[in-house]
Amino acid sequence: MQFTCNHPWPRAVMTILMMAGASFATAGAAPALPLPAPRNLPDNGLARTPPMGWNSWNHFAGRITDADVRAMANAMVATGMKDAGYVYVNIDDTWEGKRNAAGEIQPNEKFPDMKALADYVHAKGLKLGIYSSPGPTTCAKFEGSYGHELQDARTYAAWGIDYLKYDYCGASDVYQLTLDNQRGVFQKMGEALAKVERPIVYSLSLGNVHEPWKWGAGTGANLWRTTDDIKDNWTSMESNGFAQLAITGYVKPGHWNDPDMLEVGNGGMTADEYRTHMSLWAMLSAPLLAGNDLRTMTGETKSILLNREVIAVDQEAMPKAAHRIDTRGDMDIIARTMNDGSVVVGLFNRGKSDVDMSFDLAEIRRGKTPKPAVVRDLWAHTTAAVDKGRVSVNVPSHGVSLLRVASNDAGK
Ligand code: GLA
Repeated sequence: MQFTCNHPWPRAVMTILMMAGASFATAGAAPALPLPAPRNLPDNGLARTPPMGWNSWNHFAGRITDADVRAMANAMVATGMKDAGYVYVNIDDTWEGKRNAAGEIQPNEKFPDMKALADYVHAKGLKLGIYSSPGPTTCAKFEGSYGHELQDARTYAAWGIDYLKYDYCGASDVYQLTLDNQRGVFQKMGEALAKVERPIVYSLSLGNVHEPWKWGAGTGANLWRTTDDIKDNWTSMESNGFAQLAITGYVKPGHWNDPDMLEVGNGGMTADEYRTHMSLWAMLSAPLLAGNDLRTMTGETKSILLNREVIAVDQEAMPKAAHRIDTRGDMDIIARTMNDGSVVVGLFNRGKSDVDMSFDLAEIRRGKTPKPAVVRDLWAHTTAAVDKGRVSVNVPSHGVSLLRVASNDAGK
């Protein structure tokens, strides 16, 4: 019996089924290859800030081709995304062909020459990412890296790959879903990547069953998925995003929680919902991997993905953890202290109606008497009014008011 990672059941359901069913190794299959003894690999020094770029899955899924990847690289430059910090152009599942006689993985007919594609992307000042699985097959049932980890890492390096998303998925055809097995298969590829000369950002894709934020860094990974696959709707995005607040303490340079790729611009949510998506991911220091067609972005989509004031929140070096400071009805109030001493406050309206609210700046400074403050509205790009230490906002349904509150020492 085979389960795919993304279809037809959500990852959580599949996980329960796998745990209940104990082993999903195919009857008569060869015994599972041994896994390395657990140890903590050294930090590879990459991804000091959360990775930014684009990934093919959310928009193209199995249709992605070499020509599309080139077009996305072109668009990333032409739209100003590259200048705003987006650098990785990541090919997700379905690029894989078969192995040659020497066991080397070949791309399929959609990708005639991976090295030439990498050269093309690099010539634009961008980086190229790829996808595989520790199992014999990937989520979409293409060839995985099982038993070929080091060989594949070498092939990726020879092609010029800069980023690997490595998806547990097909490994459940070989190994039971235990913590040791999950950790072991990821460590195995982490060790392989550490042996090749080329720096390759290492991104784990898995569910949250075994809490990868607690051990992902030890496998050599730079980021780890913490959620089910995101969908282009409010419920999915809200559930993935706000759940992260429980684990923000695990985020540190080179090691990021990944609530999945962005859906901004794919059409299933309102502009307010997409602003919430971008704001929340930025407050969480989550990877910003756009998942839309970059050639056909509306002005509104661009204003969201290219909002440099919000990107700056996401990309802060050595970020402190974001935390919920209050909930009021449908309003979820989240704050993060920035390294310059300012505080970013996200007033998230998770309800169905618009909300007018005002709050005292002292509340976000944890009771300290507020100094005169400058309040920057990161979406309106204006300075918000402060009246006797209070700020008033109108937050639309499913929208956000994202404010950066700094002391105005000049006004003391
Ligand atoms: C899983 C991952 C997705 C995507 C698909 C590809 O579902 O979680 O992000 O990579 O596999 O098959």
